[in-house]
Amino acid sequence: MNITVIGTGYVGLVSGVCYSELGHNVQCVDKLPEKVVMLQNGEVPIYEPGLQELMIKNMEAGRLSFTNEISDAMVDADLVIIAVGTPPLPNGEADMQYIEAAAKEIAQSMNGYKVVCVKSTVPVGTNEHVRGIIANHFKGQFDIASLPEFLREGTAVKDTLHPDRIVIGAESEQASALLTELHRPLTKEIVVTDIRSAEMIKYASNAFLATKISFINEIANICEKVGADVTEVAKGMGLDRRIGSSFLKAGIGYGGSCFPKDTKALIQIAGNVEYDFKLLKAVVEVNRHQRYGVLDKLFHAIDNVYGKTIGIWGLSFKPETDDVREAPAIEVIDRLIELGAKVKVYDPIAMESFRRILDHPSIEWCENALEVARGSNALCLLTEWNEFVEADLSEVEAALLQPVLVDGRNVFSIEQIKKTGLNYYPVGRPVFQTEKQYSKDVV
Ligand code: UDX
Repeated sequence: MNITVIGTGYVGLVSGVCYSELGHNVQCVDKLPEKVVMLQNGEVPIYEPGLQELMIKNMEAGRLSFTNEISDAMVDADLVIIAVGTPPLPNGEADMQYIEAAAKEIAQSMNGYKVVCVKSTVPVGTNEHVRGIIANHFKGQFDIASLPEFLREGTAVKDTLHPDRIVIGAESEQASALLTELHRPLTKEIVVTDIRSAEMIKYASNAFLATKISFINEIANICEKVGADVTEVAKGMGLDRRIGSSFLKAGIGYGGSCFPKDTKALIQIAGNVEYDFKLLKAVVEVNRHQRYGVLDKLFHAIDNVYGKTIGIWGLSFKPETDDVREAPAIEVIDRLIELGAKVKVYDPIAMESFRRILDHPSIEWCENALEVARGSNALCLLTEWNEFVEADLSEVEAALLQPVLVDGRNVFSIEQIKKTGLNYYPVGRPVFQTEKQYSKDVV
């Protein structure tokens, strides 16, 4: 199959590489000349485990190439996939300008029957809008389809090659047959449905997962007050197959490029048809509030942060990515600086991307995890990178000025903590206070 993918962001690039891995000829198009040159040289602009190796392998096999020109890439295409960004507008709605621009360019290059499908997360009705734009310019036959994407950052290649399910929203037998054939090697679970339902499945799935996270975070907050342990509660709940154990990890709330954007967009979509999505509004609000839980624990542990040094472990919104979009670390660090604290930070790979978003004289950029602890009045873990999970906590304790560890991701067990002299503040679990006497001068 000849496939053209428009947009080489997360979704476009990973999909293009994975379709070429299945043996198809894939051309990826991007507007940015410097990005295309980078990709042509085998460099990957995002951090995603396994992606670069697979990309180079398929480029060398002659199945994968990159270009700036939609028109060149469209000549022999059987399938055109739109995977451009839909960033949020200030009111939460998805910004459709890149989708519309791509549709116009596709329209001008149509030279025969093709299936045009949208992989970007788009409001219900967008595929029909794309159909309208193309039909304005091209009078021949073509089909539109919705092909929502469910990959996660950090495991994007694995998720794409081994998905739980593929959802295809198609308007014709021909389009659904083509897309089913393309995805059959990946999974048996292929849901073929109408276009509007496919568009909705994506939003509903992300909104549901975000709801699970906010739900367990609220349970965690109650656990703290009644003396229960949320990790035990989640384990007990998750064994019920109707509930399931995933996405029940309490912490400092969800971030990233999808959940925050898609939950707000679905609230808007509902609002546009005069439906007040009260539950999802609460999910968003709980998530916003959850980030400040870390700060509350910090205030509880060291009273006042003014003039003190707070160590931060982890800046990306989750491990195995350098993506800091909507990362809880942004608000936490911003607030600490506002309150007059100095902040020492370290992340295995997201230092540069974070610095582009938030740089300040009160931030000290450290070389490693231990350096963050050295001379800090408290340490907060915000992203559960392995490097932090496996850190030697006795060394960490020795390096800290005050023995305070706030664990925003619940990665340490009480047994581990007991071997140290740390005071430990997890989420939704009992606080552990050391009996060790300290002689260090506390600032
Ligand atoms: C998500 C969806 O999982 C994916 O299907 C969709 O295509 C894009 O959005 P992603 O944003 O890459 O993927 O990350 P994910 O692993 O789902 O985590 C999202 C956020 O939720 C992270 O901030 C993570 O820390 C948080 N999370 C996740 C929790 O706080 N608790 C959990 O139990 C699970």
